[in-house]
Amino acid sequence: MTASLLTPTVAETEGGPDRGTDGAVSLVELILPEHINHHGTLFGGRAAELMVRAAFVAATRAVRRSLVIAGSRDVRFTSPVHPGELLEISSCIRRIGRTSVTVDLVGHAEDLVAGRRRPAMSGRFTLVAVDDQGRPAPIGSTTGYAPSAGGSSVPVQ
Ligand SMILES: CC(C)(COP(=O)(O)OP(=O)(O)OC[C@H]1O[C@@H](n2cnc3c(N)ncnc32)[C@H](O)[C@@H]1OP(=O)(O)O)[C@@H](O)C(=O)NCCC(=O)NCCS
Repeated sequence: MTASLLTPTVAETEGGPDRGTDGAVSLVELILPEHINHHGTLFGGRAAELMVRAAFVAATRAVRRSLVIAGSRDVRFTSPVHPGELLEISSCIRRIGRTSVTVDLVGHAEDLVAGRRRPAMSGRFTLVAVDDQGRPAPIGSTTGYAPSAGGSSVPVQ
């Protein structure tokens, strides 16, 4: 059973604009026994998949283009996550280049009963806009974000 969901923004829940183009995504997963490794904690492969999923949604929301994952760096697992805990992964668009979008993620584990939260993982993921042939394609100015002249990076948050 997968219990992940993308939480709506405040604007959406209050009937405001639902374009969700700020790249801020919060992916929430209740950690269940099927996510657990032989140490009794969240399997790293599952955690990485959740981060990739959050990065994909955040980047696609930010630029509204067809994207593929190109790479990741600085992926860190800093605290084990236990079954029954909540994992919440939050995103921030770090950079938009000529064809690429870079997303920073941080995941917090939460003991639901005690109400305690702690950082558990983080990472940086780069996605590339592609055309119908899967080749890198300029993101252009169809988004709320515009790459600066020469395709250099634009920090947006
Ligand atoms: C991602 C992919 C389209 C890039 O193609 P490429 O010809 O190597 O791309 P380029 O060298 O022209 O670089 C294009 C952009 O991607 C960025 N990029 C490419 N590889 C990267 C990497 N490993 N990490 C970070 N950025 C990367 C470049 O910096 C450049 O950014 P910019 O245009 O904003 O300046 C290609 O490698 C690919 O198809 N990979 C497989 C993707 C995939 O299957 N993902 C998993 C499933 S979604």
